[in-house]
Amino acid sequence: MCGIVGYIGVSQAAPILLDGLSKLEYRGYDSAGLAVYDGDKIQLQKATGRLKVLSELTHDGATMPGVAGIGHTRWATHGAPSNSNAHPHFNREETIAVVHNGIIENYLKLKKYLEGKGYQFTSDTDTEVVAHLLDYYYKGDPIEAITRMMHRVEGSYALGILFQAHPGLLYAVRKDSPLIVGRSKDGNLIASDVPAVLKYTRNVYFIENEEISILSGEDICFYNVDGEEIQKESTAIDWDMNAAEKGGYEHFMLKEMYEQPQTVRDTLNPRIKEYNVDIEELGMTDEEIRSIQKIHIVACGSAYHAGFTAKYVFEGMARIPVDVDLASEFRYRNPILQEHDLVIIISQSGETADSLAALREAKNRGVQTLGIVNVVGSSIAREADRVMYTWAGPEIAVATTKAYSAQLIAEYLLAIKFAQVRGELTKEETTSYLKDLHKLPEQIEMLLSNKEKIQHFANRYISAKDVFFVGRGIDYAISMEGSLKLKEISYIHSEAYAAGELKHGTISLIEEGTLVAAVLTQEALYKKTISNIVELTSRGAFVLAVTNTGNTEIEKAADYVIYIPQTNRWFTNSLAIIPLQLFSYYVSLGKGCDVDKPRNLAKSVTVE
Ligand code: G6P
Repeated sequence: MCGIVGYIGVSQAAPILLDGLSKLEYRGYDSAGLAVYDGDKIQLQKATGRLKVLSELTHDGATMPGVAGIGHTRWATHGAPSNSNAHPHFNREETIAVVHNGIIENYLKLKKYLEGKGYQFTSDTDTEVVAHLLDYYYKGDPIEAITRMMHRVEGSYALGILFQAHPGLLYAVRKDSPLIVGRSKDGNLIASDVPAVLKYTRNVYFIENEEISILSGEDICFYNVDGEEIQKESTAIDWDMNAAEKGGYEHFMLKEMYEQPQTVRDTLNPRIKEYNVDIEELGMTDEEIRSIQKIHIVACGSAYHAGFTAKYVFEGMARIPVDVDLASEFRYRNPILQEHDLVIIISQSGETADSLAALREAKNRGVQTLGIVNVVGSSIAREADRVMYTWAGPEIAVATTKAYSAQLIAEYLLAIKFAQVRGELTKEETTSYLKDLHKLPEQIEMLLSNKEKIQHFANRYISAKDVFFVGRGIDYAISMEGSLKLKEISYIHSEAYAAGELKHGTISLIEEGTLVAAVLTQEALYKKTISNIVELTSRGAFVLAVTNTGNTEIEKAADYVIYIPQTNRWFTNSLAIIPLQLFSYYVSLGKGCDVDKPRNLAKSVTVE
């Protein structure tokens, strides 16, 4: 996500802020900015592009005098990368400056409210509502303004705030987005991530949800959301720089897997309003949704696998026929596209060459296109007729985990909306689906907490030659992604098969001890897949089953079972994929592979 740094002390702030931001560059960003109190007013500088541009603009900070400031690297969410959308953001008198990480879910409602009070907005960001809300509530006491703002905003935030009227102080506050405070001998710092402060201190406080911190050059105080002072213990950081970048996790992939509950929340929550799916952002009328005759989903890699799941969900829930295509195939096969078809392109980066070419091909043929994209302002996001963003934040590990999980959520939301509008879902069914979606983050957390058991199991398979993944229906789609994860990071040959297809060739590859991961999350298909498992075990396979809690029948057939919590049959992929991601990760780790940067692979494939 974005990066925050703040400093108050005896040294010039701007060079320290630039240095801190440079330590957060690995997180990905598209613009950067600084706000520094110069003894008279708050000075602001912003630049689109690399941090280097901002450094050059400010002569490495020299042109910005002052000992108190905040800095930010932005990774666009609301509004494309641009100077006006870059942080910090000001109130109208430019006396309050704010940097923000996270997503303000109710920003549109708040924006309308503030516009009604005469506030004018100069950016497309959700953050700007925070600056204006603080202005609205500020009557001389920053803590009062901050706590009142906290009661109004919904979503996640880590904020660094400067009030011109309180020049010797720096304010920090957070909810569901990390923020730390560091104490050094020459001043105090805030940062969204430990690496930004390591050069100055190893003595940090972790701000907890809904806590506020006030920093002066000498002191640090903490308050709760009621404005009452609280005491906190500092922590001594003994990580090296490398570990600090990964937030203490051994690899980015593991960190990103652990970010999945938050990613799911961020992609889901802003789009659910009073037990209804709200995707007004797409600008699609009910009439347009009703007129869709066929959906074509086009993507590459894991995004293609997410699309494969969507086929079952859209067809099953909304009764719309769906074709799923690899972008590299779609673009050259002269696809048959009709007037009322919808082409959905799924892409984390929004820059994959084949997916982009497929999008252009569809547009040339005059069909409506919709991008499910993670990177705001990317080519696919800009060129698609409509875009639905996944709020996964930057993903660094080549093997995708959290972006894939966010893509699934976007698809479920679209399917529910389409099904509802087309009269395929009752109000009760919609409510029950949305309740199930809301439970997913906690259920994913629970599955992640089971990592030791999976690590133990994975260690037995680090010298496996071949692994097979099998399932039926959505379970086949999950198997495809499970298999890709394993092969891309552990270099073990693995393949996914529709379980019913095994007898037509693949079963001849099964030898004594061959590992087969069988996925059984679709109750109506349990018996069929269990029969396939028996065929496999009787030929010597060792079968690991991933199935729903309660399907104890499986224990008679499989050798090892991982249970996932109960959810709706359409959403099981979001849970079943977690143990499979962990399995791949631990096999790769056990083999000593380069988990985050597997050989021959690139995160963003911008060539054909
Ligand atoms: C590469 C990545 C995959 C990704 C695929 C599609 O192969 O390694 O993780 O799924 O590209 O990328 P996109 O950015 O379009 O989702």
